[in-house]
Amino acid sequence: MGAAASRLRAKTGTSASRVNAEDIIIGNDLLELVSSAMYVDPMSIFREYVQNAADGIEQARRTGALDQVAPGTVHIEIDSKPRSVRIRDNGVGLGGDTFVKRLTALGASAKRGTDARGFRGVGRLAGLAYAQDLLFRSRSDKSESVRELCWDGRMLKALMRETDGPNDIRALIERIVTVKDIAGEDYPEHFFEVELRGIVRLRGDPLLNPNAIADYLAQVAPLPFSPAFSHGAAITARLAQNVVQAPLALTVSGIDGPVYRPHRDMIANGNKTPLAVHAVSFIDVPDIDGTVGAVGWFLHHDYEGALATATLQKGFRLRVGDIQVGGDALLEQEFPESRFNSWTVGELHVLDRRIVPNARRDHFEQNAHFANLVNHLGPHFRDIAHRCRTSSVQRKAQRDLELALEATSGSLDLLRQNSVTPAARTRLVREIEGQIDKAEQLAAASEATAPIVDKVAHARSALSELADLGSVDPLAFLKPKERGQYQRFFELIYECSQNRVAAKALVDRIIAKISE
Ligand SMILES: Nc1ncnc2c1ncn2[C@@H]1O[C@H](COP(=O)(O)OP(=O)(O)O)[C@@H](O)[C@H]1O
Ligand SMILES: [Mg+2]
Repeated sequence: MGAAASRLRAKTGTSASRVNAEDIIIGNDLLELVSSAMYVDPMSIFREYVQNAADGIEQARRTGALDQVAPGTVHIEIDSKPRSVRIRDNGVGLGGDTFVKRLTALGASAKRGTDARGFRGVGRLAGLAYAQDLLFRSRSDKSESVRELCWDGRMLKALMRETDGPNDIRALIERIVTVKDIAGEDYPEHFFEVELRGIVRLRGDPLLNPNAIADYLAQVAPLPFSPAFSHGAAITARLAQNVVQAPLALTVSGIDGPVYRPHRDMIANGNKTPLAVHAVSFIDVPDIDGTVGAVGWFLHHDYEGALATATLQKGFRLRVGDIQVGGDALLEQEFPESRFNSWTVGELHVLDRRIVPNARRDHFEQNAHFANLVNHLGPHFRDIAHRCRTSSVQRKAQRDLELALEATSGSLDLLRQNSVTPAARTRLVREIEGQIDKAEQLAAASEATAPIVDKVAHARSALSELADLGSVDPLAFLKPKERGQYQRFFELIYECSQNRVAAKALVDRIIAKISE
């Protein structure tokens, strides 16, 4: 007898017994929990269906139904009249006995333990929350007829409201699911199609908006990089060493051409200036056994500030099976300052199978393997934060340099005017020397451009010329005593003035007046 059981017996005086399976009630609400209640972001239903398509396509490659070079295609057809969306793939499909069995099962995925992306056996029901009807059509071979299975979402809601309706999940599914055979001539030899019909109207109607769908899937789905993104090939080649990649050719009705990942050479950053991408860098993250547990990449740009959400690439993101898990802020707390996450463009492909997305796919299960991964990312996030900070330091140095150059040229004008006592003039030369030294330092710190460096050098030579050769004495026509008085008077003007430029203009006018 186990220790727990003997403790229980010691306490109660009787032995513990098991409950009977027939006495366990599995109520209707469970269905709600695995469909409607599961996905907070309505767009994630597209992720679930594209994920299934990607699994179906990979399986088709394994079975030979799709040859290695043929593209895996997913097409999303939007029909706004019946408010329907159809998502069709050219994967292995589902036929024979398995069609009904797999599509009525709850949480009993045949994919568990395989390389497939799904494994919880509920994702295909995501649409139930947002549509009146959820239909699946498929066949896996041209010799079969096409079968259609429909989950009646409206009846489901009605039955859930009835207090004396069936309160057994099997009886409920029996009432709301229907199956039929349909003529196959208009359908491909093997395919799988989901149709959401009577889609609910949400704010902005994103579920029927081709651009919203494409923008969402550009971020999360396993799609190729745009040919217009010149680092795409390098990233693809680097990832191919570790990640099985078979990006999908995905099209959305109303949008020309395939949907690509959002990265480009120039990041259009909302209403701010576009950012140029300068370089890509790669990282390997070890798992707890020291082998590669994840591979990732960063795009380095000007780091001028946070990226707009509309760039579709803001924030460090994680992917499993080339599908995004969670959102753009998943690891923002791991940055030295969380705001720097939104300056970052980067992705990590998790390879370690012990790092598992949670059921909602909005985060990972919290375990030692995930904790180890996050730990190893720390130095990389510190590096990004350093880039962000130094770039703002650089920008500050540039601004300071501009100010220093302006001040230097004002002081040189004063020296050229030559209106003060020899002692004050010596002080002024010292001051300008100091200003030029500072400008030189700032130019080095901010990696100033050649024209700016020239400007600094020019100020230096102007100073030495003026200091060595002196300037024309504008008060030479005065008697020495008078001259000295004016010089001290002008010094006072400079000392008491808030604004050197204005003071110099005043002194210029006075000199002009007295030399008339
Ligand atoms: N696009 C598809 N192609 C082929 N089979 C599919 C497709 N979508 C769903 N299925 C079948 O339905 C099953 C249940 O899907 P789902 O509820 O998403 O759970 P999971 O993906 O976790 O197995 C899948 O395991 C698969 O057998
Ligand atoms: Mg799935």
